[in-house]
Amino acid sequence: MAALLHRLLTASSRTRNRKILVKCTKTSYFRNSPSLSVRSDEKNGSEPHQLTSGQAVLSRRTRSLSPLDRISSLLPQDVVRQEQDGEADIQVPASEPLEETQAPSSPEEGRRSPSHPGERGLMFGEFLMAEHRKNRVQYRKMFHLQEGGRLLSSYGVIPHNQLAGHPAGRFVKTNRGIPIFIRRPSLEDFVQNMKRGPAIAYPKDAAIMLLMMDVTEGDCVLESGSGSGAMSLFLSRAVGSKGSVLSLELREDHHRRAVLNYKRWRTSWALRRGHQWPDNVDFHISDLCTASELLAGRGFHSVALDLLNPHLALATVLPHLLPGGVCAVYIANITQVVDLLEGIRCVALPLRCERIVEVSDRDWVVAPALQKDGQHCIRKAPIPDSDLGREAETPDQTDTDDDLGPAFGNIPYIARPHPEQTRHTAFLVKLRKFVQ
Ligand SMILES: C[S@@+](CC[C@H](N)C(=O)[O-])C[C@H]1O[C@@H](n2cnc3c(N)ncnc32)[C@H](O)[C@@H]1O
Repeated sequence: MAALLHRLLTASSRTRNRKILVKCTKTSYFRNSPSLSVRSDEKNGSEPHQLTSGQAVLSRRTRSLSPLDRISSLLPQDVVRQEQDGEADIQVPASEPLEETQAPSSPEEGRRSPSHPGERGLMFGEFLMAEHRKNRVQYRKMFHLQEGGRLLSSYGVIPHNQLAGHPAGRFVKTNRGIPIFIRRPSLEDFVQNMKRGPAIAYPKDAAIMLLMMDVTEGDCVLESGSGSGAMSLFLSRAVGSKGSVLSLELREDHHRRAVLNYKRWRTSWALRRGHQWPDNVDFHISDLCTASELLAGRGFHSVALDLLNPHLALATVLPHLLPGGVCAVYIANITQVVDLLEGIRCVALPLRCERIVEVSDRDWVVAPALQKDGQHCIRKAPIPDSDLGREAETPDQTDTDDDLGPAFGNIPYIARPHPEQTRHTAFLVKLRKFVQ
């Protein structure tokens, strides 16, 4: 029954796609058309219009009404192909240079590879990410690019000298011929992979804390404890060069770790961009509960607390928080939330608890399914630009059904939550100061 239903759906979707495609080749109105000529609607007497090869594909794809077509166009091709092939390694796009990055050989090629202001070739001293995927991420490592260094993994070796000077975001083969994806880390990657002292504020939680606190460029923010420095880095980015962060930490070893991570990120950033990351975090070794002297004369737009017994520090912090400002608290246990609220109530602190949230993000698997007979469905292969160029020479062929082959996306999918999920990290409590 399911197989019959699938055959019917496939047939109807294929017919619909073909009708849409035929219509599209006769009436599409793309301008700036170097390659593919499309006949005009003669009745309207309009001028002939031309399609670039990429536009020709898009004009076919964007017309599809099939949800499967739309989903398949959203899927990363490597995920899709690996689910299908099962055994397959990373598929490296044929046009992607593995070992060398060449300057554009012609103005035409130059136009196709835009420059990205501020981004340079990979530099010694930067932190980079190396990844290998097969169905899912199998290997992910952050490493420090060093002259004469080597990236070692069970997939083989890549000498660092082979990476320096080349652009990020490309596949490089190990000595065993396995392609590893090399890219620059986002701030989220960096904090998740940097060396830690204590546990960090997870990026999903840090992002919500920034929203709760409404941190804006130019703000002055108080943070404690510095811990491993993850939250400090997110705050540093949010307040920007006009703002400042005061970060207090009780333990000297944690303080050193936070400062080191902050320095490493800033150094890597400066190498990558050629200009400095704002130096806007002031790290101090101090117990927040007894830091009145250090805080004297300072005011903060908001406060982020991630420490044991935050309620014990509130009396010290509150006089320095802007009326109406928010103190966002990161706590692992719900019993600690109760302690916090009870602490505020007993001492009658001028704080309203506006929200208590647990932030959950759920990873999903969306990929072509195995058929009942255990075979993988055949997907239409992506059409490289060069093939489209040839297609462009014979536009009339797109009008015939025979050339189309199976419409892409006409295959069953699995779509379900990923079996491995991030577990509980913390509760976030949003406290707002009021004036009596
Ligand atoms: C979980 S860690 C903070 C992690 C940090 N938010 C990050 O993202 O890397 C908690 C830190 O608070 C510090 N701490 C605990 N009580 C403190 C206090 N009264 N004053 C300052 N720091 C304190 C601990 O030493 C510890 O390093």
